[in-house]
Amino acid sequence: MATIPVAVAALLAAAGPAAAGTSGSTGAGDPYFPLAGNGGYDVRHYDLTLGYDPDSRHLDGKAVITARATQRLTRFDLDFKGLKVTGITVGHTKADFRRDGQELVVTPRHTLHKHQEFRVTVTYQGTPKPVTDPDGSLDGWIPTDDGAFVAGEPQGAMTWFPANNHPKDKASYDFTVTVPKGTTAVANGVLRGQRTSHGHTTFRWRAAEPMAAYLATATIGKFKVEQYTTPDGLKVYNAVDPREATAAAPVLKKLPSVLAWESSVFGPYPFKGAGSVVDRAPQVGYALETQTRPLYDRAPSLGTLVHESAHQWFGDSVSLTTWKDIWLNEGFATYAEWLYTEQHGGKTAQQNFDALYASPADSDVWAFPPANPGSGAHIFETPVYSRGAMALHKLRTAVGDKTFFDILRTWAADHHDGHGTTAQFIHLSQRLSGKDLHALFHTWLDTSGKPASP
Ligand code: ARG
Ligand code: ZN
Repeated sequence: MATIPVAVAALLAAAGPAAAGTSGSTGAGDPYFPLAGNGGYDVRHYDLTLGYDPDSRHLDGKAVITARATQRLTRFDLDFKGLKVTGITVGHTKADFRRDGQELVVTPRHTLHKHQEFRVTVTYQGTPKPVTDPDGSLDGWIPTDDGAFVAGEPQGAMTWFPANNHPKDKASYDFTVTVPKGTTAVANGVLRGQRTSHGHTTFRWRAAEPMAAYLATATIGKFKVEQYTTPDGLKVYNAVDPREATAAAPVLKKLPSVLAWESSVFGPYPFKGAGSVVDRAPQVGYALETQTRPLYDRAPSLGTLVHESAHQWFGDSVSLTTWKDIWLNEGFATYAEWLYTEQHGGKTAQQNFDALYASPADSDVWAFPPANPGSGAHIFETPVYSRGAMALHKLRTAVGDKTFFDILRTWAADHHDGHGTTAQFIHLSQRLSGKDLHALFHTWLDTSGKPASP
């Protein structure tokens, strides 16, 4: 009997089907962002400890990730781009790792068995840089003149912490962020404590409800902070760049009434903690519905505040399972703006619909069907927002107000802290209305070009 040399045996084992079958996949299967997320495990909690110096732009980080294996794992990936990794442990044992683009490939010393809960600790440091999205916008850790604007949709979370970077995998978060005294670090959820010593302040935040990685923030700057509890018992924390304060004040003052109005229309506010971060970040060009605490690149308009607040229900509490379904976020948040103006003495939703329908056939509005943007480059374009809202308005006129608002509330309630798909939304609409709505949704969500009749 021939003996196989040890080195050859190891090679065979590494290359064999058994080995391949126990590696977590490099992506979550999203056609628009194939490398986003990873397979083989499910994150329960991220505990992030960060230190940032706005002058040198140096970040020190430690991420403790608690996850559960969904298969036997000899190897798994995290998404992490840029920063230098200084060490990884799985449990108490040092793990091997290598970098491959945005994939951080971790090989634990001991194989993880299916359903095993495990803890990965990643230490890292360096100068974080944002990524440029397929649409050309910046996303991730975006330095500002006094700190950083930290927004992760769709891909940027991986620029500042190692993550399972796809909304399919939601988790709770703790943040401990240390910055120079006089600077404020604002994350999601509720502020648990703040301590200054030796010229530095440490802020501790907790986001208790499950959150997609792209909705996490640790925005840093010289902010004016305002904290209060609303008549509904909601804890509000607003952080505002003083240069934006005068313009922001009249809009921010409306936050409690906007959230109360949205709660009356969509159902109970889904999270502990609320508020806003108003930064001055002219290089960004968008606001983001960071969970519990939307992030604005400048003083927002009331419409933008209503929009980002509505995302707390639609997009944050009810998350996407695939980026192709982005109209479930943006169409809903846009329609919330239409409803708000309608119920506050402005244009009716019908007027907004009619004005858009009047757009000529070659207008941007009709560039592609909202439920099929075609690629990650188009997920934040007009059809997703405007025609997505038009689809909801068509639903409303088809089923009547009572059923329509019942559908919105049931959607938010049934999928809260979870996920929803376009097919599930259509199914719910049919069930609650008792109507066949396939043709309506097909026309407004899936058909190219301007629909023949409004
Ligand atoms: N979700 C944000 C909004 O409500 C838009 C984010 C745009 N992000 C980007 N990388 N272009 O409107
Ligand atoms: Zn939006």
